[in-house]
Amino acid sequence: MELPVIDLGPYLECSAKFIADGAPKTPLGLDDLGPELRDLCSVVSETLRDTGALLIKDPRCSAEDNDRFLDMMEKYFEKSDEFKRQQERPHLHYQVGVTPEGVEVPRSFVDEELQNMINMMPEEFRPSIPMGPDPKWRYMWRVGPRPPSTHFQELNSEPVIPEGFPEWKDTMDSWGSKMISAIEVVAEMTAIGFGLPKDAFTSLMIRGPHLLAPTGSDLGRYGDEGMVFAGYHYDLNFLTIHGRSRFPGLNIWLRNGRKVEVKVPVGCLIFQAGKELEWLTAGECTAGMHEVVVTKQTIAAIESARLKNQSLWRVSSTLFAHIASDAMLKPLGHFAELPSSSKYPAMCAGEFVELELSAINLKGKKKQEVS
Ligand SMILES: [Fe+2]
Repeated sequence: MELPVIDLGPYLECSAKFIADGAPKTPLGLDDLGPELRDLCSVVSETLRDTGALLIKDPRCSAEDNDRFLDMMEKYFEKSDEFKRQQERPHLHYQVGVTPEGVEVPRSFVDEELQNMINMMPEEFRPSIPMGPDPKWRYMWRVGPRPPSTHFQELNSEPVIPEGFPEWKDTMDSWGSKMISAIEVVAEMTAIGFGLPKDAFTSLMIRGPHLLAPTGSDLGRYGDEGMVFAGYHYDLNFLTIHGRSRFPGLNIWLRNGRKVEVKVPVGCLIFQAGKELEWLTAGECTAGMHEVVVTKQTIAAIESARLKNQSLWRVSSTLFAHIASDAMLKPLGHFAELPSSSKYPAMCAGEFVELELSAINLKGKKKQEVS
C-alpha cells in the first residue's frame, strides 16, 4: 500500500504569508487557510487515524540534510564496540550517549497481553516475535530547551560527544531542530483536521523532553530474513518522526489490522502516532503499531550496498516528540465527550510516561521510549 505523501509547502507558505501580512500575533485561523488547505489538514488527521502513520515532504528538511546525518551516524556505528562503549552511560540509565545492542527490550517480548493479541491475529498479518532484546544500537541526544522547574526532573546529564566527530553537535542539533519544526507543523495540521484549535497540541509540546534517538543495526552481521531489529510495539510519546532509512524494513499495522511494509520516498519523512496522541484524542487516533525486520526488500538493499561498497549499517534517524512532562494529558475538546474518554483519565504526561515504562519493567532502567 502506498501512503499518500503530504507536501507541507503550501501550508508553510500560507503561514509565512499571513505572518508577513503583519499580524504575527494573531493565530492563523481556519478562515485564513482556505478550503484546499483545510482539506489537506483533514487528510493529515485522517491518515494518522486510519494508518497510525504519515508520509510528508517538508521543504525545510532536504534529502541532503538527511544524508549528512546518516553519513555521520554510519561512520559512528561502524566504529569498534570498544570505541562506542566510551559513550555508554549506564549509570545515567542510558538517557544520553550510546545504548549498545542487546539492552533495549521490545514490549512484545515481555508483555503477555500483547503476545496473546499477536497470537489471535491472522497469520498473514502477524508480527515477527523477537527471541530476545533488540540487536540494535541507539544514540540519545536531547533536542530543544527543558523546563526550568518540573515535577519530573530529568537527569541533567551533559550531552555526550564522541571523540573525532567535530561535526557531531551541529549535525545532531541541526537535523533535530529541523525535524521538530516538521513535527510542529504536522501537529498543527492534525489539530485543525480534528476540529481542534490550531495550537491544541503544539502548546502542550513546549519544553517537552524531545529526543533524537537514531538507531544503528548491523546488517552485515544480522542480515538474515526475518531478523527482528525492533519488535512489534507502539511508541509511548506524542509523535515520532524518522528520516528515510537507506534500508527498508519498517512494517506498520493499519487501524483495520492489516500489515503494510512502508516505502519512504527519497526526500520524505515518516511520522508515527504515539500513545500520547491517542490519549489526547480519546482513542480516535490510536498509537500506530510497528516493527523493523529484515525483509526481502532489505536483503536486496544489502546486496546493492555490498556491490557499491557502502555501509551495511541500517541507520534510523528517529526523533521522539513528547508532550511536556508537567502538561496535563487528557482528551481535548470534543474528544472529551466521547464514551471512550473514560479510558483515558487525566494525568501529567510525565506520570503517564513513568506508568508506561513501569508496565514493561523499564522504569529506572531507561527513561525513554523503547522501540
Ligand atoms: Fe517505535
